Amino acid sequence: MPVTVLFVCLGNICRSPTAHGVFEAKVRKAGLENRIRVDSAGTGDWHIGRPPDDRTSTVALTRGYDLSALRARQVSRSDFEQFDYVLAMDRTNLGDLLRMKPASFKGHVGLFLDFYPHAKVQEVPDPYYGGGDGFNTVLDLVENAAQGLLDHLRQAHGF
Ligand code: 4NP
Repeated sequence: MPVTVLFVCLGNICRSPTAHGVFEAKVRKAGLENRIRVDSAGTGDWHIGRPPDDRTSTVALTRGYDLSALRARQVSRSDFEQFDYVLAMDRTNLGDLLRMKPASFKGHVGLFLDFYPHAKVQEVPDPYYGGGDGFNTVLDLVENAAQGLLDHLRQAHGF
């Protein structure tokens, strides 16, 4: 059974698809695609079915990540039956997830940046209403946290 990881933000068109694409690329590069399954979702429903925000996709491509196959979906209670790690981009997302989480959930729900302990921030800032640089900031944080998460999974699961 693969270890399963779900990245969650608000819209599932900026931060969590970035985490999805970056982490999946790292997993593939490590040859662990049969061991680790990755997905992303949003707490909101506004963008269901849509590809990532153009600004997100453009900045991701400059670093070699192709997000074009991703489509937004909304997180649901049943995700807690499917995923071992449910990782929120910010504390608002985390609060929503904790309210949704069934008592029987045995996995890990927490902030994604907990896997990047040297970061100056604990949340991935929402770039949606900001300037272009916000998308590069998201990628910087996500690339570091993705490496930390991969290192953690290797240790915890013996890959
Ligand atoms: P995300 O960014 O949560 O990183 O996908 C947002 C996308 C859309 C909206 C807010 C944040 N929105 O309000 O539509």
